[in-house]
Amino acid sequence: VKKPIIAIDGPAGAGKSTISRKLAHELGLLYLDTGAMYRAITWLVMDKGIPLDDTHAIALEVEKATIELSPSDDLKLPVTVRVNQRDVTKEIRTPAVTKNVSHIAAQKAVRAKLVKLQQVYGKQGGIIAEGRDIGTNVFTNANLKIFLTASVNARAKRRSHDLRQQGETNIDLPQLEKDIAQRDFLDSTRELAPLQQAPDAIALNTDNLSIEEVTEKIKQFIAGSE
Ligand code: C5P
Repeated sequence: VKKPIIAIDGPAGAGKSTISRKLAHELGLLYLDTGAMYRAITWLVMDKGIPLDDTHAIALEVEKATIELSPSDDLKLPVTVRVNQRDVTKEIRTPAVTKNVSHIAAQKAVRAKLVKLQQVYGKQGGIIAEGRDIGTNVFTNANLKIFLTASVNARAKRRSHDLRQQGETNIDLPQLEKDIAQRDFLDSTRELAPLQQAPDAIALNTDNLSIEEVTEKIKQFIAGSE
């Protein structure tokens, strides 16, 4: 049997990364963090000092860029990301990159390159891919599609918890809520492959569920889809 492709989409901070990483680990599947790829390109564009709206210069830069992802064996660690050989694992998680990423992810040349790369990772199956357009665009034939959601408040609280764990003490919850809502707005109203629930995706609201409960539910869906 061909190994499954599982698509996990949803807005920022709904728990996609934590859940996908855990599932991939438990099921022995490859974990693909597609947001990390858009973040890597955003970092590159900023590092080169290219204006975010210079789509031509960005396209040229993206075309020649190499991006490598290597998932960590440690469940707590995010994927290691290299762009043009340089390790940018930490840099791609900064607030500056988070703030700009939606503008870069809306551009045609960027999406064309990254979607192709994602599809190469998925060729053999046996993959859990998380992002915004996995079920609607990257792997439309996925064996299972999940659309993870949570209220803006719940998502902002989780982000603040994560930031605190990273040592951040100066956290403004209302501002976090605004930033999350703004990123959702940009991601779901863009022209190309906007954030949207696929018609055949199962929606799962994680407001009142623990990580373990969400993981268990998805495992049941996977078992049911086989
Ligand atoms: O998931 P994460 O927050 O790391 O994603 C960062 C950004 O990358 C999203 O806000 C979105 O603009 C973009 N993205 C995308 N398509 C994906 C994954 C991420 O446009 N499949």
